Amino acid sequence: MKKDNKIYVAGHNGMVGAAICRVLAAHGYSQIIGKSSKELDLRNQAAVINFFKTEKPSVVIDAAARVGGILANSNYPYQFLMDNLLIQNNLINGAFENQADKFIFLGSSCIYPKLAPQPLKEEYLLTSELEPTNEWYAIAKITGVKACEAIRKQYQKDFVSLMPTNLYGSFDNFDLQTSHVLPAMIRKFYDATINNHATVTLWGSGTPMREFLHVDDMAKAVLFALENTLPEYLYNVGTGVDLTIKELAELIQKVTGHKGEIIWDSSKPDGTRRKLMDNSKLQQLGWKYQIELEQGIQQTYDWFLKNIHQYKTVKM
Ligand SMILES: NC(=O)c1ccc[n+]([C@@H]2O[C@H](COP(=O)([O-])OP(=O)(O)OC[C@H]3O[C@@H](n4cnc5c(N)ncnc54)[C@H](OP(=O)(O)O)[C@@H]3O)[C@@H](O)[C@H]2O)c1
Repeated sequence: MKKDNKIYVAGHNGMVGAAICRVLAAHGYSQIIGKSSKELDLRNQAAVINFFKTEKPSVVIDAAARVGGILANSNYPYQFLMDNLLIQNNLINGAFENQADKFIFLGSSCIYPKLAPQPLKEEYLLTSELEPTNEWYAIAKITGVKACEAIRKQYQKDFVSLMPTNLYGSFDNFDLQTSHVLPAMIRKFYDATINNHATVTLWGSGTPMREFLHVDDMAKAVLFALENTLPEYLYNVGTGVDLTIKELAELIQKVTGHKGEIIWDSSKPDGTRRKLMDNSKLQQLGWKYQIELEQGIQQTYDWFLKNIHQYKTVKM
């Protein structure tokens, strides 16, 4: 991969896309291009065709998606299915038709069946039913994985899919209405600390287990896929290490300096008991995560403190 190859990062303003741009720039890639959804709505096929004809990127990294939690997925199933299909179809086919050398498609662990054995291996894809709460998103993402696999098979093109575990880091979403568990906890402990509240109430029993990967490590996995021709069509990206939600809360409490008690509201749902990715395939090829969870939470908390002015502080 030449450092002056034109690399289009779709979704460059998002948490993952921004991390990819930072890592690529730090590694000397000089022609990174991105367009906001206002400048180029990736659901608009004609606009995307025009963009590819004009720009002709040699690499396309797809970090653009309509993303959201259980509530958004269940309220807007059609948008989660169709927007994501449109975005990825336009990108995959645009790259293919315009002879891009490489396409890196990002999805998530929700593509795997609800009851698949843990840790989740790539070969469990399409072996049984999906988790119904996000099946719309998952079906779109599975279609993207399969489209890239089909292009690989039929045309021997380097189109590859990476499936990250739960990500966190700079530019995360700290809005309590829509955020994932890790940034939501940072926000809750921060709000409790500045309001001098001795207790923090968190959802569920604290016993489910989850895996977390810093977004900068994810971006380095993308760099790895960019600089190497990976032999398979699909790779999981994670740490291979999980912890209970209770252990996560205690780590975040330590980093934020909150001294009080954590109350577990067991009337709220726990979600899946465990979700751990088997990332041995990518590790065997030479990629490994570098940022340990406590260090990553500290970095994310520092970023949050510097950018807190963007978020409304909750007075409790
Ligand atoms: N965050 C995680 O924990 C996580 C975990 C696993 C996998 N992933 C995957 O990583 C990818 C990116 O996620 P993220 O967390 O970075 O999401 P994000 O912060 O919400 O960013 C999504 C990006 O997609 C762009 N986008 C959405 N709709 C678009 C449209 N119609 N046209 C053009 N651009 C559009 C947005 O552009 P604008 O900002 O310009 O609107 C934004 O830059 C997704 O495929 C997701 O499944 C994320």
